[in-house]
Amino acid sequence: MKAFILADKEKVEFREDMPKPVAQADEVLVQIRAAALNHRDVWISKGLYPGIVFPSILGSDGAGICEGREVVINPSIGWGANPAIQAKDYQILGMPRYGTLAEWSAIPAAQIYDKPAHLSMEEATAIPLAGLTAYRAVFSKGQLTAGQKVLVTGIGGGVALWAMQLALAGGAEVYVTSGHDAKLHKAKVLGAHGGVNYRESDWAKTLRQQAGSFDLVIDGAGGEGLAQVLGCCAPGARVVVYGGGRGAVPQLSPQLLFWKQISILGTSMGTDAEFAALLEMVSRCQIKPVVDSVFALEDTAAAFARMAAGEQFGKIVIRTS
Ligand SMILES: NC(=O)c1ccc[n+]([C@@H]2O[C@H](COP(=O)([O-])OP(=O)(O)OC[C@H]3O[C@@H](n4cnc5c(N)ncnc54)[C@H](OP(=O)(O)O)[C@@H]3O)[C@@H](O)[C@H]2O)c1
Repeated sequence: MKAFILADKEKVEFREDMPKPVAQADEVLVQIRAAALNHRDVWISKGLYPGIVFPSILGSDGAGICEGREVVINPSIGWGANPAIQAKDYQILGMPRYGTLAEWSAIPAAQIYDKPAHLSMEEATAIPLAGLTAYRAVFSKGQLTAGQKVLVTGIGGGVALWAMQLALAGGAEVYVTSGHDAKLHKAKVLGAHGGVNYRESDWAKTLRQQAGSFDLVIDGAGGEGLAQVLGCCAPGARVVVYGGGRGAVPQLSPQLLFWKQISILGTSMGTDAEFAALLEMVSRCQIKPVVDSVFALEDTAAAFARMAAGEQFGKIVIRTS
């Protein structure tokens, strides 16, 4: 079968001769119609991820056909019994377990869910990893309630856009940051109340003038920007962190944290119950995921390059079969 694989250290390639998987006990075969990229795939392809094995079929997001059903795959495998923390043998689909950048994938039967009826395969595959991470960040960790003011940083990202769409559907007033004015504009078209470009000096001050202070911040970057964002928090705010590509946070003020009673919460992926709740909300609120672009499986390398360059607004989708 056709697949896009990590063949060796920092070596990804399209192949036509990968063996079609055979479903093991408790697994089902899914004909993947569309996959989508996450930054995880790019980190792995650059060797910047723990426990990399070769060869691997990458890809955590998938929608397709399973035993005649239109399905979407939950890539969060083996979370375990404690909703607060994943089990020791927890896995994310797409390395080491073979992923969705292929014509077929063998998936634990329990991770198969009905595709929301209002979405195409290409829209549905934009849901899983980013949507699940955002759902847990906004609702389980962030405890969002209607009418609250939310800041989502780096709105061009897959998780960030999901966080914005879910928070808007939950009745929040949402502000965003981005390094690109065009992405700020697109976010406003989708319902963001305002936003600032984090490449401009004094962006945090401009943000405070524009929005006041935030009850909830969803951040996937870390770094100096996160220290600035803490100064934009309302008393009692929650700051939920799901990524840290910009590195450690310098000059974190303990006084600011304790006097304003600010909580910083880490989050990763989510439980099966959160995945089901996400799909229910997507269907009930008729949320349409933002698809940035669609590539053929043969052109997946170009899709990786687009994500690595940070050019996308929303999910980069790969048509697989
Ligand atoms: N913990 C988890 O379970 C989990 C799950 C998913 C992702 N992640 C991590 O979260 C990060 C984002 O993942 P993704 O898949 O959403 O990636 P993505 O689609 O490639 O998005 C990355 C985004 O980061 C934003 N960004 C870059 N520099 C920034 C800065 N200085 N300040 C604020 N934002 C900045 C960019 O936003 P603009 O283009 O708008 O500037 C960019 O779109 C990655 O590090 C990933 O590994 C973690």
